[in-house]
Amino acid sequence: MRAQTGLPITPHAYLLEGSGDGRQGGGAGTNSSDTAQVTDPDLAPATSAPIHSDVVRDPRLAVSLPGLDLKNPVMTASGTCWYGQGIARDYDLDRLGAIVLKSTTLKPRAGNPTPRLFHSESGWMNCNGLHNVGVEREVGEKIPWLAGNYPDLPVVASVAGSSVDEYEQVVARLAQSDHVAAVELNVSCPNVKKGGATLGTDPQTVEELTRRCKAASRVPVYVKLTPNITSIVPIAQAAERGGADGLTMINTLTGLAIDPFTRRPLLSNVTGGVSGPAVKPVALRLIHEVRAVSDIPIIGVGGIRSAEDVLEFLMAGADAVQVGSAALDDPLALPRIIADLPVMMDRYGISSLAYLRDVR
Ligand SMILES: Cc1cc2nc3c(=O)[nH]c(=O)nc-3n(C[C@H](O)[C@H](O)[C@H](O)COP(=O)(O)O)c2cc1C
Repeated sequence: MRAQTGLPITPHAYLLEGSGDGRQGGGAGTNSSDTAQVTDPDLAPATSAPIHSDVVRDPRLAVSLPGLDLKNPVMTASGTCWYGQGIARDYDLDRLGAIVLKSTTLKPRAGNPTPRLFHSESGWMNCNGLHNVGVEREVGEKIPWLAGNYPDLPVVASVAGSSVDEYEQVVARLAQSDHVAAVELNVSCPNVKKGGATLGTDPQTVEELTRRCKAASRVPVYVKLTPNITSIVPIAQAAERGGADGLTMINTLTGLAIDPFTRRPLLSNVTGGVSGPAVKPVALRLIHEVRAVSDIPIIGVGGIRSAEDVLEFLMAGADAVQVGSAALDDPLALPRIIADLPVMMDRYGISSLAYLRDVR
């Protein structure tokens, strides 16, 4: 039963929540198998065709990052648009700088049982448990669909796993696709070999994972950092030592919500990842800290809802951004933010995004 305290789950988010038919767990090592029953939010409702329109390019918005020649700095955030087919019925995906796909493991995963999504005034909480179709279907079906419909749209494949070996195998399989522009390593996953501690909280593991994935990859590698750590700087530096081409910051912050009627946690996995407006100041602070010690590109993510938010992230040290939860509230949030960017740049006297980077 949905808590009386939460806001309604929007239709787009409801699709992402899926049926939640997995076993309790949350670790990347659980409920993963060739036969996992994975609900596919891309396919429902399969009533209309992908939208195509004339997308106007504004050269002032262009950003160039390793592997990613972006017409504008705004990408989807992993997990919030699944593999793109669903949102392609809301707007032309060619409006995006790039699309970042759902974190994908070696085998399909059904994810945690429902409820695994909670909506509140401060944003969203989820415990999806890495619900995904597995890398074979991603490479064989999802990425070819995007390449066929949007040949010029850069595709970033997000990788997850329960061991360094699994990440390396997923990256090696992605290297057989011609349509992946970059990979993003989601290191916020429990390491089954090290007793379930999150892979991304140990500098040695992050360095090794990055090095091995970099060696297995044909395309640039971005490491997506978890904020659930005392100090993020040593982790960012470990990724850089491992050869990361860039960093994505940040993943969700672990939180808890309780239903006062049942006196039980609202999410099936007890805790969940907080996203949306509440995490924006934390993301800005962490990006600012890492930018002070590192020159590699940073893709900022966390609570962005407007073009002004995008500029704030770029001023804090990011080179591009991703938008996640805002699209759960409003499916047209990304095209709106992109369309507003030139207007806000005029307002704040910013001639180009490249200029903004040069003067920070
Ligand atoms: C429903 C949902 C699913 C998510 N799944 C993933 C995922 O599979 N991989 C990942 O790296 N991040 C995932 N995230 C985190 C987002 O990519 C992003 O880092 C975070 O939500 C903060 O950005 P936002 O406030 O714009 O949503 C997910 C977030 C949500 C809300």
